[in-house]
Amino acid sequence: MRRKDVLDLDDFSAEELHEVMETAEAMREVLSRPIKRVPPLRGKTIVNCFYEASTRTRVSFELAGKNLSADVVNVGASGSSVEKGESLVDTTRTLQALGADMVVMRHPHAGAPYLVARELSAAVINAGDGWHAHPTQALLDLFTVRDRLGSLEGRKVVIIGDVLHSRVARSNIWAFTTMGAQVVLCGPPTLIPAGIETAVAEGRRRRWGDGIQSGVQKEHAAVKVQYDLDKACQDADVLMALRIQKERQAGALFPSLREYSRLYGLTQERVARAKFGALVMHPGPMNEGIEIMPEVAYGAQSVIEEQVTNGVAVRMALLYLLAGGHGGRAV
Ligand code: NCD
Repeated sequence: MRRKDVLDLDDFSAEELHEVMETAEAMREVLSRPIKRVPPLRGKTIVNCFYEASTRTRVSFELAGKNLSADVVNVGASGSSVEKGESLVDTTRTLQALGADMVVMRHPHAGAPYLVARELSAAVINAGDGWHAHPTQALLDLFTVRDRLGSLEGRKVVIIGDVLHSRVARSNIWAFTTMGAQVVLCGPPTLIPAGIETAVAEGRRRRWGDGIQSGVQKEHAAVKVQYDLDKACQDADVLMALRIQKERQAGALFPSLREYSRLYGLTQERVARAKFGALVMHPGPMNEGIEIMPEVAYGAQSVIEEQVTNGVAVRMALLYLLAGGHGGRAV
């Protein structure tokens, strides 16, 4: 991997995504061993800076670093010099001076990890910045789908609900379209960013030129919007529900939770409209009974727990590749 940082997936080629996926498979094999610890990051220090609430992402990064024998230090906003008014750049420079080789950052403001990445020679991984991006969640989602369904080419991935506030959706759009899947965004018009189809198409063209990447068909690698969930579910290979992000909603963007749930909640009837064997996903944490019904979340088609488990292998792969490891079965 020839990059210092992982800030989003908009600049990942299909080849690079494949390399992460193959390395994550090797890491999953490591995790199946009785002793889940390998030495590649021995002597390296990873600092997890989480300035926003997190359970799975923070623990997952901590375990990933430890499984690779790195020293892992956790820093939160409360109890650190941020409380004394130190700037983000100064805090992270201090962490680098203390020996951090990698900084994993979650921050409530979009762009914060980009600012830090520019200032530091240490590798920076974005673990979620505001509404903007959450690349490691998208990588673990991709890994989970690829593991269950094989090739992504021509697959229909439906992302449902609060797309407007979702950094998970934004990173997943890049991950899935780059692998040749069609992404359908479904939710109330107030929760789907206006003009997102054109914005994604333009973003892709700016990044990759008019010729779409090798092996990816133009009509597949695209984003569509559909406001009717029953229609969106038809022929879907993947149904991904998003959390209603109440904490990020300033005004009333839909009439009531009950109404929202009736129109956009993932029910068994809706899952039955999708392809046979379609996968049900959710990045967590879930509002059960609102965006997803418990019988769907814990049903036979749900891979929600697998997503969490796969997160450790995927983050191990990323840390390993960023530290200069080579893809494939090297551990
Ligand atoms: C998500 C996040 O924090 O962006 N959770 C996660 O990392 N698994 C999604 C959310 O908060 O809804």
